[in-house]
Amino acid sequence: MITVENLTKRYGQFTAVDDISFEVQPGSVVGFLGPNGAGKSTAMRMMTGLTPPTSGRSTILGRDYHALPNPARHVGVMLDAAAQHPGRTGKEVLHLVGMTIGVPKTRVDQALDVVGLTPAEAKRRVRNYSLGMRQRLGLAGALMGDPQVLILDEPANGLDPQGIHWMRQLLRAYADQGGTVLLSSHLLHEVQIIADELVMIGRGRIVAQGSKAELLGAGGTRVHSLDNDALANALQAKGFEVSGDRSGILVKASPEEVGRAALDAQIVLTELHTAGSEGLEQLFLSLTAADSREPQAA
Ligand SMILES: Nc1ncnc2c1ncn2[C@@H]1O[C@H](COP(=O)(O)OP(=O)(O)O)[C@@H](O)[C@H]1O
Ligand SMILES: [Mg+2]
Repeated sequence: MITVENLTKRYGQFTAVDDISFEVQPGSVVGFLGPNGAGKSTAMRMMTGLTPPTSGRSTILGRDYHALPNPARHVGVMLDAAAQHPGRTGKEVLHLVGMTIGVPKTRVDQALDVVGLTPAEAKRRVRNYSLGMRQRLGLAGALMGDPQVLILDEPANGLDPQGIHWMRQLLRAYADQGGTVLLSSHLLHEVQIIADELVMIGRGRIVAQGSKAELLGAGGTRVHSLDNDALANALQAKGFEVSGDRSGILVKASPEEVGRAALDAQIVLTELHTAGSEGLEQLFLSLTAADSREPQAA
């Protein structure tokens, strides 16, 4: 369990993190989403005791990070995968982690296995690793202490689609066993695949938060039926906002509400689903476009 309460960080006049509050429950993966410069890393540094907050607080398993005895046994942290020592081999990096936090040497091979780094890769120096391999190594380091909580800053950076798929499986399994996961990303698609819940941040402030289903639902429902005109009328009669084109109807309502309206009007549906990523994408863009501090790449 992670709790963040009114967490704020100011650098002089500049507010990097502005009064954010959220929780991450055991058994869930929360995606911390926002454009570059939004304040994700700063927030995560405060949560893991690397930067003191200006005000507010965060706790892990009910305690301040610094109050945890041997924190790495409780919370696995990966903040900057690119920062690992380039001259050491992957295996050496993990040995050092193991020694620092006091876990047996056998954990190293287990952790390497979990993140899919082969023995040959583990013997290579980190300077020769791809970014994706560094991410795997960073994750292995975070897992060394067998923690109940993971805090991962942009862990999918540099992973190819297969790597992202792999990470999703890994984090899903970890959460299903009761683990608590907070991960950040500046890419909606990545978090959307991996997370159960989203906390969207722009310019240091939370601009939206909720379950992925709720936020996806905010984009509405796409529906197709044997009589779209009649369905549109039935939906409007119930007060739902409707827009339509040849490919169907887009409704500001949940799939269940649309399904019930169709049932009441005795109209056969041929397609019914949340507007899905189009909806969340629009939300993300509209919520963060104005809040982005850096020019968006073309
Ligand atoms: N030590 C610092 N001093 C001054 N400004 C900082 C410092 N660290 C971060 N910032 C600023 O805070 C903002 C948020 O940065 P960051 O947390 O790294 O965002 P994100 O991880 O979402 O990309 C940025 O504008 C960044 O320049
Ligand atoms: Mg960052």
